[in-house]
Amino acid sequence: MRKKEFQIFTGNSNRRLAERIAKYLELEMSNAEVSRFPDGEIDVKIGDDVRGADVFLVQPTSPPVNENLMELLIMIDALRRASAERITAVIPYFGYARQDRKAEGRVPISAKLCANLITRAGADRVMTMDLHAAQIQGFFDIPVDHLYAAPVLIDYVRKKELQKPCVLCCDVGGAKMARAYAKRLGGAPLAIIDKRRTGPSETEVAEVIGTVEGHDVVVVDDMISTGTSIAEAARVARERGARSVRMVATHAVLCGKAMEKIEASKVEELVITDSVPITGKERPWIKTVTVAELLGEAIRRIHKSESVSSLFV
Ligand code: R5P
Repeated sequence: MRKKEFQIFTGNSNRRLAERIAKYLELEMSNAEVSRFPDGEIDVKIGDDVRGADVFLVQPTSPPVNENLMELLIMIDALRRASAERITAVIPYFGYARQDRKAEGRVPISAKLCANLITRAGADRVMTMDLHAAQIQGFFDIPVDHLYAAPVLIDYVRKKELQKPCVLCCDVGGAKMARAYAKRLGGAPLAIIDKRRTGPSETEVAEVIGTVEGHDVVVVDDMISTGTSIAEAARVARERGARSVRMVATHAVLCGKAMEKIEASKVEELVITDSVPITGKERPWIKTVTVAELLGEAIRRIHKSESVSSLFV
């Protein structure tokens, strides 16, 4: 019989988000020490009794990706061996998601490998957000709750009362997500960039499908890694006569020279969430909205066996 209480644990990847989730749920964070042995191996000690508990482990696999992924796996193992009744891996940002297919010969499908590892470690469910490709849900043979940050991000953008909004999607793969943004912005027109990737951090814009001229452009993407895609989209939008340009992205990985590239593109603002840690990335032109309440509410509903999809209606 499952204990009535549920518990929130976290590793080192985004403690602040986990604490915000716990606050929303009016819960104390449960204790786990996650440190390193002198040789760099991960040392985990679960501090609270979890026998029979419904455990939610918040650990996005953001950079340092491999460290955070390994912490996640080892913590799941520790919780399972400590007899937790059910373990939900809450992975708001799912690292390796872009390696979701064999784009060429002799390459791995690392997203599938990560899904296998998480399942084999002992997770019973996964909760994630704005997966790079929604079909990654199918890499798991356990239930996956896939949340969308759009309602939270759009709430903020809507308050800007843009006169002539238009949603610009960074690539064809993101069109579905962009359409959801356009709909929530009162049926704003949609434009799509036909992007070609010429290297891991290089892309080129082949064409813009749709019109951005004279519009208050909102460039949307699931994630910003090197910043190349979104900065290039902003540049093209300006070149084609946009009135104003804003950027909206769920996962602000912001590695390499991303900050410089975005700053140089002189956008009105960049709106991101706290799905990955943003410490050190604070700038006057960056607005961060929290997804803690959304995740917290989904956790509450999973625990109570209530509908999660109704959160998005
Ligand atoms: C691409 O398919 C994704 O939706 C993002 O546009 C991309 O991964 C962002 O990467 P970067 O910031 O390095 O261009």
